[in-house]
Amino acid sequence: MSAGLPTVIRRYRPGEEDRIWDVYATTTRESNGRDYHPDLIERWAPRNKDRNVWQSRIREKNPFVAVVGEAIVGMAEIDRSGAIDYFYVLPRLQGCGVGSALMAAVQEEARRTGVSTLVADVSVTAKGFFEAMGFTVTETRENVILGHPAPNFAMTKALDAL
Ligand SMILES: CC(C)(COP(=O)(O)OP(=O)(O)OC[C@H]1O[C@@H](n2cnc3c(N)ncnc32)[C@H](O)[C@@H]1OP(=O)(O)O)[C@@H](O)C(=O)NCCC(=O)NCCS
Repeated sequence: MSAGLPTVIRRYRPGEEDRIWDVYATTTRESNGRDYHPDLIERWAPRNKDRNVWQSRIREKNPFVAVVGEAIVGMAEIDRSGAIDYFYVLPRLQGCGVGSALMAAVQEEARRTGVSTLVADVSVTAKGFFEAMGFTVTETRENVILGHPAPNFAMTKALDAL
């Protein structure tokens, strides 16, 4: 088991959009960058990202954030159908239980809203984590984006199985 950090999981607060972008972009570049071509990383986390677009997205999605001390170190989204998206923990905090804490919050929210099955499109980078969280692969997708391999996995977890 991970040692764990004193981590607060809560909904994001208006005004935190840029800090959440930093978590997303840093993790995408450093962690997913190990598994995907730089062209793909730049597409997913562009240096010139329109922050207004990002701000609107965050306001709409209302993600959970993980906070350690004063720092936002992780994010996770779940919609009303049980689809998980944008699940990221800063590289320097990975392996400390932050992702597990975010997943617990997401699952609690799913149960609270009557969702019985979680689904996610999961990167090569995060597949092992989702498996550790009890998800199984339902489809392996050999995507090609910008001419580069961009595989991901459709994964699912029945909450009743907990
Ligand atoms: C995937 C991610 C969110 C996991 O967050 P984390 O804070 O490192 O996860 P935790 O420390 O809570 O790990 C929980 C368990 O999963 C396991 N785990 C984590 N990442 C793993 C991996 N890549 N492969 C296998 N197991 C993994 C841990 O060993 C741990 O098991 P334990 O409780 O028995 O020790 C984080 O590594 C990340 O942001 N990755 C890159 C971004 C990404 O690809 N996001 C998903 C987009 S679909």
